[in-house]
Amino acid sequence: MIDLIIDTDTGSDDAVALMLALGNPEVNVKAITTVAGNVPVDFGSKNALATVALMGKNTPVYQGFDRPLMRDLHTAQNVHGADGMSGAPIPTNIPKLSGFDAVNKLIELPKAEPGKYTLVTLGPLTNIAAALFQDPNVLSYYKEIYCMAGSPEGWGNVTPSAEFNIWCDPESFKVVLRSGTPIVMVGWNISREYAVIAKPETDNFKKIGTARSNYLLDINIQVAKFCKEVTGIDGFDLPDPITMAIAINPNLITKSELVRMDVACDEFMRGTLIIDRSVAAQKLGPNVKVIWEADREGFLNSLYEMCQDGSNPTGFTPRPLDFYL
Ligand code: RIB
Ligand code: CA
Repeated sequence: MIDLIIDTDTGSDDAVALMLALGNPEVNVKAITTVAGNVPVDFGSKNALATVALMGKNTPVYQGFDRPLMRDLHTAQNVHGADGMSGAPIPTNIPKLSGFDAVNKLIELPKAEPGKYTLVTLGPLTNIAAALFQDPNVLSYYKEIYCMAGSPEGWGNVTPSAEFNIWCDPESFKVVLRSGTPIVMVGWNISREYAVIAKPETDNFKKIGTARSNYLLDINIQVAKFCKEVTGIDGFDLPDPITMAIAINPNLITKSELVRMDVACDEFMRGTLIIDRSVAAQKLGPNVKVIWEADREGFLNSLYEMCQDGSNPTGFTPRPLDFYL
């Protein structure tokens, strides 16, 4: 059994990552914590609770920071839609939040069972940095830490060189880089190269025709529009789901590198990553395992497998997908 704690700014791709975890019988999701990023944090909590309900689970969701550590919140509602879910129908009869103490939970749960939980972060690192301020050893309590974060090769999706989760709160990522516990970075490079969904994948999901496959397509239609108009990707990419798939099955990693990394926090280079391969850096030791290549087919198969389940416990009515791609 793989025991996960997931920190998320639940937009549409985060929701698919949650589905991959919640729909996998080998995975136990101990808790979900939410953070401001894609959408204001209360929207993120609502989207996480709706996805937990869709998957027929009762996983507790705890709400966290409603803004970055030291900056105003700039969301990605231009990418995911005002609600973060492309305005698509989502389950409404959903459970309530279990609390507003996300940061405490990110500390207490792994501290009670050291080495048991894998932490997967899908949004800005604000909650994680706050947990580090409260307990500088917190990340050492986790078995491993996978972060959807960064553009290690320098091709950004917010600025020419910065990826959103780090750009949104670069100071928090700097705190994580200095924690003394290395993280596994699944950057936007992996999403762009191995996790784009277009024809024939969209047709495959339509053929599966379950509430899950319909939900996956519908909540990401806004991302597809953003990709067409801004990033030039044909279809939509799924950065958080491929991060989750890799955290659940690290065999999907086909090339990685241990590096010493820092992040720029000045206005011009905000969120840009610096990989230092100097001798001095080697002496300091690595703080990031960067993923450079992954298994696209294995990732897609994990999505198709999850979507085969035809259950719809909330009885929500997906909208017809005849408009789709
Ligand atoms: O840059 C992609 C990341 O930013 C993903 O986590 C997406 O959900 C947004 O949070
Ligand atoms: Ca996210």
